[in-house]
Amino acid sequence: MRITSIQLNDFRNYARAELRPCEGVTVLYGNNAQGKTALLESVVLACTGRSHRTPRDRELIRWDQENGRVFICAERRDGSHEVEMLLNRQGRKIVKVNGRALQRTGELMGHVSGVLFAPEDLRMIKDGPAERRRFIDMELSQIRPAYYYALQRYAHALMQRNKLLRDIVLNPALTATLEDWDAQLARHGAAIMAMRADFVKQISGAAHENHLEISGGLEDLRARYVPSIETDGNDPEQALFAALRASRENDMRRGATGVGPHRDDLMLTLSGMDVRAYGSQGQQRTTALSLKLAELDIMRRELGEAPVLMLDDVMSELDPARRRQLLGRLKGIQTIVTCTDLSDLAEAEIGAAWRISGGIICPEGGDGA
Ligand SMILES: Nc1ncnc2c1ncn2[C@@H]1O[C@H](COP(=O)(O)OP(=O)(O)OP(=O)(O)O)[C@@H](O)[C@H]1O
Ligand SMILES: [Mg+2]
Repeated sequence: MRITSIQLNDFRNYARAELRPCEGVTVLYGNNAQGKTALLESVVLACTGRSHRTPRDRELIRWDQENGRVFICAERRDGSHEVEMLLNRQGRKIVKVNGRALQRTGELMGHVSGVLFAPEDLRMIKDGPAERRRFIDMELSQIRPAYYYALQRYAHALMQRNKLLRDIVLNPALTATLEDWDAQLARHGAAIMAMRADFVKQISGAAHENHLEISGGLEDLRARYVPSIETDGNDPEQALFAALRASRENDMRRGATGVGPHRDDLMLTLSGMDVRAYGSQGQQRTTALSLKLAELDIMRRELGEAPVLMLDDVMSELDPARRRQLLGRLKGIQTIVTCTDLSDLAEAEIGAAWRISGGIICPEGGDGA
């Protein structure tokens, strides 16, 4: 697929702007704090329904303004798709696809598809399991609406169960209702676990290939799903239900649920070595990049066409050999790259370059005035 137009109104530091990315590599360059990431963020919003930087939509609206708008046109094999996000300070955003307001954010998937690689992605390697679960959730939601809905239902049931655990201390008669929430958690949780296991298997294979390529055949990357409970070949729903039952006393003491997919993790190894504990900075960065490129491969397979690739400020952080390998992989993929210095992309085949200055998209060499 291909994005043909990105229009912003009162979005972050943009008052009003339009970018028409080219088919190949579009470069956005400029000094710090000018709006490069904000532009990519608007695409992420149209792909997933939320920003990769904040869960609070009102932060996306330009200061002192009441409303913000993102409008993106994409061409896919089946025709053109227009996604419009209307943000207001009061809260709920309106999401429209081809002019029709959506009832559920889940329906957004499949219109504009993209993969973003940003410096923050290093956190999924360095930080705790929550960041790795976030990676799986974000990416899997884009290709499987069923996953997105299961996650939402699971989160709701989890919140209810945790509340109940705390209420039971004051009113033990409520214990009986715990069973209902356990059943819901087990049902949606088992669905989540099955889809995660399948996704990680796919991602491990593709990330392995990507990593071999980028590291020049040196490093053997593997990803392994580490669920919070072992099912030992039993029915996952029953296993999860039993595990919730078993941890009930503990959970009541803590006022929180100790088992389930909200405790899952993803183990990443390079030739058997835990990347998180022992990887060098460059190895960790390349691992994150390989995972993102793997996601792109999976999306391309699932969607039958490549999603848009966005690379936020990553070139300067890779050594020249790894940078070359990465650039070599961009053929046939619409890519939007940001950098502060155009020379970071000296070896790239650039289709178009725009300078971003104070929320204004300037033609190459323009001064933004
Ligand atoms: N809601 C908002 N309204 C107005 N301006 C905002 C809003 N949110 C962020 N900004 C400002 O927008 C500017 C652009 O931020 P952005 O992160 O896109 O910069 P960038 O070009 O990617 O910079 P860097 O090279 O440092 O990553 C910043 O100066 C930021 O303070
Ligand atoms: Mg930035």
